[in-house]
Amino acid sequence: MSFYPLRSVDSDSRFFRPGDTLVLVGELFDRGYANGLVQAALRRGMRVIEGTVGRRDENHGLRPLREEELKEKKYEWVNIPLEAGFEWEVASDGLHLMDRLKELKLAEWESFSVPKDLINESRIKGEQRLFRNLQNFCAEIEKRVPSGNILFAHLMAGGVPKNKVVLSLLNRVVRGTGEKFLSSKKLWDSPLGWVINENFKAVTAWSFQLLLEASSELREKMMQQGRIVAYSAYGYHGTEIFISGQLRWQSYAPYLQGWAKLLLEDLARKARQQGILATVFNCPEILTHSSSIFQGVEVPLYPLWNILWQYGNHPFVRHLEGNCQMKLKSGVTLSEVVKMCEQTYAEPDLAILFDFARWPQHNEKQQLEKLISVSDHIMQMHENPKNLLTFDLSEVVLEACGEVMLKYFQQYQEPVVWIGHDLVGSEIVRLKNQ
Ligand SMILES: NC(=O)c1ccc[n+]([C@@H]2O[C@H](COP(=O)([O-])OP(=O)(O)OC[C@H]3O[C@@H](n4cnc5c(N)ncnc54)[C@H](O)[C@@H]3O)[C@@H](O)[C@H]2O)c1
Repeated sequence: MSFYPLRSVDSDSRFFRPGDTLVLVGELFDRGYANGLVQAALRRGMRVIEGTVGRRDENHGLRPLREEELKEKKYEWVNIPLEAGFEWEVASDGLHLMDRLKELKLAEWESFSVPKDLINESRIKGEQRLFRNLQNFCAEIEKRVPSGNILFAHLMAGGVPKNKVVLSLLNRVVRGTGEKFLSSKKLWDSPLGWVINENFKAVTAWSFQLLLEASSELREKMMQQGRIVAYSAYGYHGTEIFISGQLRWQSYAPYLQGWAKLLLEDLARKARQQGILATVFNCPEILTHSSSIFQGVEVPLYPLWNILWQYGNHPFVRHLEGNCQMKLKSGVTLSEVVKMCEQTYAEPDLAILFDFARWPQHNEKQQLEKLISVSDHIMQMHENPKNLLTFDLSEVVLEACGEVMLKYFQQYQEPVVWIGHDLVGSEIVRLKNQ
């Protein structure tokens, strides 16, 4: 596996400009990464079309959004449910995964048996449903977008079956300390772990492949017309952060989506071999609806200050620093927060987080406890734990990443790239100079 960190992207954009369209394949949530892409597209005068994942009704049927739900949408939308995954798909024995999980007991999860052939039937049905919906989605895009280039931005990640015992086990894997600690390897090596991972792969990775296939006709037509169609997907595979005087790759563990993200990377590599402009952008850790369950994932975000301070005289950086400093308790400084992260990362128990070849790492008790403890400690250094530095820093990261992604396609051909804190810093400062 080769590590391809992006160091710079050209500022000129021939591909994406007024007349071109950004299509979000997934739904836009407040604070989510896709907001950065939307901002970058609007800055260029592009059109933005949002997808929806649909909603489950009382009988767990997948339905489009209702009128009142669509009122909240800020941009143009296509209301075809793009939910991925198979937990509600009934197999030939009349049961879906959620039915099977009803029998699951917390004390007996290790001996829970999973009928792989029936799960496979549900998985195939889930894929067929998503494929049909994606085809209809693409047909609607074709109608609505008769000219200009298109960037399909795949946002999807998730797939946790919402079952009480599953949620409780996952909570122990990502937050469990002391007796509550549960080894992610133990869970992942079990039949239950296998099925959760299959659903993660369906949502996070196979949905991307289905998008490439469902849009193939549209892509062919557009290419014949000399129009460009590109595909971006958000990956996570660790981030380079600047700590203790150097840029170092590190990661969060246990990142349970990691195996699905590796598959996503492979799918992008295969697509590039077929001449499709598809790239997975491995982005830094930020705080969003999806990542907030992983306590400690935000710790590498604080050292972004080490990069931002390199542009310390820039008015944007000075303003941001003032805002962030105000969020801390009196007497606490930003440098102390960053130093605390650096000291934690220097501990031997956290060394596994720096081993690129071993990614995705499973959790280890001491490692998880240290990460959660520093995360708690930094939260307590805030004036109000509901108003965190990570909100401001996440905004900076997602805005910079959105810019990088739109500029990338005309200059690079790589299927998998990494955006580290160095590029986030230079990009945000360049943007704020405009
Ligand atoms: N937050 C981070 O630290 C981080 C870091 C690197 C990459 N990413 C990636 O960025 C992307 C956007 O995530 P985000 O963190 O901004 O959070 P988010 O909650 O804003 O976005 C999650 C997306 O996944 C979609 N989704 C969830 N369940 C789905 C399902 N069953 N079927 C289809 N779609 C589903 C949602 O509609 C939404 O578009 C994800 O691929 C995520 O893995 C996030």
